[in-house]
Amino acid sequence: MSSYDVIVIGAGPGGYVCAIRCAQLGMKVACVEGRETLGGTCLNVGCIPSKAMLHATHMLHEAEHNFATMGLKGKAPSVDWKQMLSYKDDTIAQNTGGIEFLFKKNKVDWLKGWGTIPEAGKVKVGDEVHEAKHIVIASGSEAASLPGVEVDEKTVVTSTGALELGKIPKKLVVIGAGVIGLELGSVYARLGAEVEVVEFLDAITPGMDKEIARQFQKMLTKQGLKFTLGAAVQGVEVKNNKATVTYKLRKDDSEHTMTADTVLVATGRKPYTKGLGLEELGVEMSERGQIKTDGKYATNVAGIYAVGDTIAGPMLAHKAEDEGMAVAEGIAGQHPHVNYGVIPGVIYTHPEVANVGETEETLREQGRKYKVGKFPFMGNARAKANFAGDGFVKILVDATTDRILGAHIIGPMAGDLIHEICVAMEFGAAAEDLARTCHAHPTYSEAVREAALACGDGAIHA
Ligand code: FAD
Ligand code: NAI
Repeated sequence: MSSYDVIVIGAGPGGYVCAIRCAQLGMKVACVEGRETLGGTCLNVGCIPSKAMLHATHMLHEAEHNFATMGLKGKAPSVDWKQMLSYKDDTIAQNTGGIEFLFKKNKVDWLKGWGTIPEAGKVKVGDEVHEAKHIVIASGSEAASLPGVEVDEKTVVTSTGALELGKIPKKLVVIGAGVIGLELGSVYARLGAEVEVVEFLDAITPGMDKEIARQFQKMLTKQGLKFTLGAAVQGVEVKNNKATVTYKLRKDDSEHTMTADTVLVATGRKPYTKGLGLEELGVEMSERGQIKTDGKYATNVAGIYAVGDTIAGPMLAHKAEDEGMAVAEGIAGQHPHVNYGVIPGVIYTHPEVANVGETEETLREQGRKYKVGKFPFMGNARAKANFAGDGFVKILVDATTDRILGAHIIGPMAGDLIHEICVAMEFGAAAEDLARTCHAHPTYSEAVREAALACGDGAIHA
């Protein structure tokens, strides 16, 4: 038996970051992980592999659509699917290996196996029981199931199966027009699959600023994705490796079917806490299966904390990381703070879509007076040169104080550009602060400055 200051269960972005931070703060720490490799959902079957596939297929798209215009003549590359998957696997391996290196460097013990908590202060891995003054649960999430739909990870897949299909499907039906559905739908559409997305609600990407969501849907439609909105999937039947998806249109309750070689179920994720023994310990859970925590990530059981996808809030890697760091600092007696009002969200399609803070809809609900500053990438010289003129930057500010309340970007490098606004919001900046900051020319970030100018006396290039 070994004794630790902290044992973290799960080595995803929440868990591994927490473990490293604990070590940096001088604590003796171990991290339990049952997977063969570290990094959790994010590095193994989530953020990283999906971004590798998005990158590879975007390159293909550029070669097919834009190379010739720039005078780069010749045949567009053909797809070697096995090699593309192996590039994705190499990317995963480099990243998961990197965390293993960081664990060694920081002297974090990796306890290999699935952990349970027999009682507060103890973690059991295999036959060994370890002692810990503090236990942090960071066991992550899994794909939510859908009634009437049985996932076999071959014909009917979650994102995990979709990242390692045996071949590129001719026809892919995606259930759910959320982040996973649209990112992976884009991947296969670029690879030549016919992609049809079935969504329960009347708009794609719920929670997103409506104007951006409409524009996004138009752009994806132009890229070949088809959408059936307001459709509740009833079930999926598989016969001879072909799937039939049955759905009802909510407007008139009429029943329809569509067939596909592959069906991707992307209707959300749920916390994964199986096998930890939380019920026996009396750890309080919400109705949605999330572990209840207070402002310091403590559960109702003394010495047990939880972070990341297992607790409330957006299921995002960077949110998990921030919480992992904060809980470690809290255990060390510091006073950390995660600002949930400034957590960016990014969809890594082409163009990217990024958001932070309030939407027009949430501001209207609050009855708050606001102003909108918008700037189209068509007015940005760099974007035009790079075939990236579609999309715009939209900044929402308080009508009286000019303080930035939220921002939404659809366009090139949106996922990077958004951080300028995140920093501004963190400092309580007004749009004028952004507008008066000199931005290098020619960069995409000039579009952010122009949107900030549009909150005041007006953008220059619009
Ligand atoms: P996880 O990453 O899920 O890690 C939990 C780990 O705990 C797992 O490795 C699991 O094996 C381990 N574990 C569970 N129970 C035990 C146990 N009892 N004992 C030992 N180990 C255990 N987010 C983004 O911000 N950006 C993206 O681009 C993005 N892309 C995504 C793409 C896909 C396809 C998916 C599925 C998700 C994506 N996400 C993305 C979400 C992101 O992956 C999660 O929000 C993030 O991984 C949550 O981190 P976590 O540490 O809470 O849990
Ligand atoms: P999601 O919550 O983003 O979207 C699920 C969609 O499915 C919603 O639009 C919902 O209305 C729809 N839906 C639910 N039930 C349905 C039904 N019966 N029929 C038709 N549609 C239905 O969930 P998703 O895409 O599965 O992603 C899970 C999580 O992973 C998200 O919380 C997201 O934050 C995270 N993620 C983040 C990424 C990023 O940051 N780029 C990338 C991929 C995932």
